[in-house]
Amino acid sequence: MLFPSLIQERLAQALLRSGLDIPASFEPSVTAAQDTRFGDYQSNAAMVLAKQLRCNPRETASAIASAFEGGDLCDAPEIAGPGFLNFRLRPAAFSAALAAILTDSRQGVPQASPPRRIVVDFSAPNVAKPMHVGHIRSTIIGDCLARTARFLGHEVTTDNHIGDWGTQFGMILHGWKTLLDAEALEADPVAELLRIYKEINTLCKEDETVRDQCRAELVALQAGDPENLKIWKTCVDLSIAGLGKLYDRLDVSFDHWLGESHYNDRLAPLVEDLIARSVARESEGAICIFFTEHPALAEKPCLIRKADGGFLYATTDLATIDFRIEQWQAEEIWYVVGAPQQLHFQQIFESVRLAAAAGRGPATPPALRHIAHGSILGADRKLMKTRSGDNVQLADVLDEAITRARAVVEEKNPDLPAAEKDEIASIIGIGAVKFAELSQHRMTDYIFSWEKMLALQGDTAPYLQYSSVRIQSIFRKLEGPAPDWTALDPTSFTFQDESETRLLRLLARFAEVVPSVLDDHRPNLLAGYLLELAGAFHAFFAACPVLKAEVSARTSRLALCAATNKVLQTGLGLLGIRVPKRM
Ligand code: ARG
Repeated sequence: MLFPSLIQERLAQALLRSGLDIPASFEPSVTAAQDTRFGDYQSNAAMVLAKQLRCNPRETASAIASAFEGGDLCDAPEIAGPGFLNFRLRPAAFSAALAAILTDSRQGVPQASPPRRIVVDFSAPNVAKPMHVGHIRSTIIGDCLARTARFLGHEVTTDNHIGDWGTQFGMILHGWKTLLDAEALEADPVAELLRIYKEINTLCKEDETVRDQCRAELVALQAGDPENLKIWKTCVDLSIAGLGKLYDRLDVSFDHWLGESHYNDRLAPLVEDLIARSVARESEGAICIFFTEHPALAEKPCLIRKADGGFLYATTDLATIDFRIEQWQAEEIWYVVGAPQQLHFQQIFESVRLAAAAGRGPATPPALRHIAHGSILGADRKLMKTRSGDNVQLADVLDEAITRARAVVEEKNPDLPAAEKDEIASIIGIGAVKFAELSQHRMTDYIFSWEKMLALQGDTAPYLQYSSVRIQSIFRKLEGPAPDWTALDPTSFTFQDESETRLLRLLARFAEVVPSVLDDHRPNLLAGYLLELAGAFHAFFAACPVLKAEVSARTSRLALCAATNKVLQTGLGLLGIRVPKRM
């Protein structure tokens, strides 16, 4: 139940009846009220219109207000300040929203229309290098956006574009042939691959002959040398298996894992085609796409084939777009990748535009979006590193989060069986790491703090999980069966206390908040909303008895509890966070 659009429709009818000379293109906007003391929703339509018609905004507002018919939805608007229209929902509208949350499989959130075919490109770590906290942001944000888009009814394809064909393979091949410890590889393949990569990397810095040897291995690999290809394939498979375990712990999955190597055969013909269409041209032996007309990129051509014939990251990304259009008819492609790659994506998007203008690909190319994010900082405000100066590894972060969460569970609920404690610790620990990420604006460089992310009070996942657990325990204590919400008449709900209406008002906004996440790809809007909702729930629960309430108020209050729990669980689910039964 989307109240802003319902009010908007009635407002549009009022405009027609108002006798004002409304321009055909005029569309009144309705938004949630800033200050709920004056109403639930507001519109600046009268002011915008008065400006266009050159008349008095308050008089315009009053003409609209008297023509407005709100029915069961809302009262006639009140006029405030220079001509704002403030709308207050009627109790029947709130009750209907509550009933929708309780009985509708989508909790009243409307289906996106029209649904779009969206490819979400996220996580995409590089093979044989560990996934570090830099990739964690992309993984967590991308997963949340994909879940949200799916929930809204879009056709989503997730694709893990792993870096399985970079120049790092020169080093890995050389390391494999000279440094590999077979036993260590057997025991922990990802760690052993990382060790040889790091050692060769250090040697390369000191010794030019090692650099040459690595380069030779890379050239041989690219030329199809069978031995090198075999080693490469083994490394990729080992890495994928290691990554898979990590994604399982995070409860993240992909429809496809089409890494960079998947596009190798497409690169040469792609470059030839771009040359033939005059989109790309030769420059000092290399092939580049120039953006002479583009204000920001005029001096920044995109290199797609080096003078030695090698292809680049950008070439692969262009070939990947072709594939995603051919194979999945992508209408949108979202790249959830850190802000440092902004230039890269600007160049790619502009190249696609130029190629389309030259007749390449479909008449309407997909909408391409770089959904950038900032970094995660340590307490010293510098990029987060381990004590030895290495990048922090995601697996270690998760281990630590779970260990710390286990201690919290131990303290709060020492009598639970050990297996359940482990399960709860994992749900809380992983949830905390995810929520710390998703509650930030994605562009913020945020400071990683264990204390903050695991606190039971504060802007944390454990706080939200605990709110749901608390409601679940109310229903466990209920004597007799839980009410059957589908059989209940929503008009029988009654709410008197201020804390009840505040909670109700927030619940009714869930249907607006979920779609708003995709406007600017901001999961923190949902995270912030859930925190507000949990706060309102606790205030309600402190002010109003539920199980001990009189019969007349009891069912309505139980409905508020059940709806809050549903919204918390659905909302956390969209953030990729699970909720335990107890904690
Ligand atoms: N592997 C890259 C990195 O770690 C990220 C790839 C992002 N996706 C893409 N289509 N370029 O930096």
